[in-house]
Amino acid sequence: MANKDSTDPARMEKIVSLCKRRGFIFQAGELYGGLNGCWDYGPLGAELKRNLKEYWWRKTVQERDDVLGLDGAILTMEQVLVASGHVGGFSDPMVDCKTCKARFRADNLESSQCKEKPSVCPGQSPKCELTEPREFNLMLQTNFGATGDQIAYLRPETAQSIFVQYKNVLDSNRVKLPFGIAQCGKSFRNEINPRNFTFRSREFEQMEIEYFCHPDDGMRLTDEWLEERLKFYGEIGIPREKLHILDVPDGERAFYSKKTYDIEYEFPFGIQELEGVAYRTDYDLGVHEKGAGKSLVYFDEETKERFLPHVVEPSAGCDRTVLALICEAFDEETLTDEKGKEELRTVLRFVPRMAPVKAGIFPLLRKNEDQVRIARAIQKQLQPWMNVFYDDGGAVGRRYRRQDEVGTPFCITVDFETLGESGEALKDTVTVRHRDSMEQERLPVQALLPWLLERVR
Ligand code: GAP
Repeated sequence: MANKDSTDPARMEKIVSLCKRRGFIFQAGELYGGLNGCWDYGPLGAELKRNLKEYWWRKTVQERDDVLGLDGAILTMEQVLVASGHVGGFSDPMVDCKTCKARFRADNLESSQCKEKPSVCPGQSPKCELTEPREFNLMLQTNFGATGDQIAYLRPETAQSIFVQYKNVLDSNRVKLPFGIAQCGKSFRNEINPRNFTFRSREFEQMEIEYFCHPDDGMRLTDEWLEERLKFYGEIGIPREKLHILDVPDGERAFYSKKTYDIEYEFPFGIQELEGVAYRTDYDLGVHEKGAGKSLVYFDEETKERFLPHVVEPSAGCDRTVLALICEAFDEETLTDEKGKEELRTVLRFVPRMAPVKAGIFPLLRKNEDQVRIARAIQKQLQPWMNVFYDDGGAVGRRYRRQDEVGTPFCITVDFETLGESGEALKDTVTVRHRDSMEQERLPVQALLPWLLERVR
């Protein structure tokens, strides 16, 4: 098991550089110097993120009878966030340095760098002059309405619209407890020190489930959801041995939480949180019942019991999971060819269901019209089902390498055998090359779609 402090900055540097070079992630506003803590996902990053969100939605909402989806507004009423406690208390302690004018999280000084002397932490250089810690509210406020005199906030978590709409979802869908509401979407926090690439951003996406239940079931369901979420990470290619479960001790949990597990991953910059699974009791519905002055009590038809539901919340970060997927997939291996020449192969070993491109499609020779026609026809046949990439530039070996570097699990080559030049047996078959083993097999063109669907879903 890795040590909490063990890091690999060189590996992280290579990952960040690959992300930019191959179009996974760019800094927002880079052309103008960049907007700190905000990121744009390029073509491959956008596909990867979509694959993650869609798989999460499928597993969480579509394949379960007890979880419904929601797509709430990002702009959030002030009253909602006053009641939830965010306006009054969603803050981090910060300190300012009067010498270099930099601002730091007071609880993170030991992992921050002094702006003037980056080899030491803030406060460690004789020139540093740090203020006493002050609370800094992390919410981003905006003005709203025709005259701009109303206050609204960009939501700091997706959870609040779920609590506020809990009763509408319940009444409009005739569901019974226990049931959950899931939402995936943007959240915003004015983090004091965005850091570690996309890990701590000011704009990010969350994938949250609020699972409403009877008070007697809260503890058991928290453990069940933890297992469910660990299974999910395994299915997207993050192995169990790289995940750490932190059972957050008394005194470190939110005051209303009876149990919280943090699911952490071994990033190259240390072991850090991917997701929290928290038993939030009836805190959330309680504060909104009080804030809105409307009952949110549940009536159990069978037992005739009335009570305020409790909530178990698995809350995952989408951007953090994308980063974990890239970190986990990144690999470099040295290959030696028949002449003894060594070459470094960079591979993203995504599980096929997460890979941004599922298959590369190549005609062996771009000048061979028949090969191009068949390769284009295969591309057209696969496109409605999955993201594929047609490439006819350069030697096939180089095309393989380009696909390896972005994690494409399969490459399909249309060659002379496909055209029947090596006999009838191989006519209408193609070479399928596997990214990880680099082994090749031949498949009939007809069989490609079902063969791929079985492997990439
Ligand atoms: N509703 C509970 C909640 O929001 P949280 O621990 O503050 O809990 C949940 O956030 C998840 O959202 C985190 O585990 C993390 O994956 C993600 N997250 C939180 N702040 C983030 C940030 N600044 N940048 C990227 N992801 C963040």
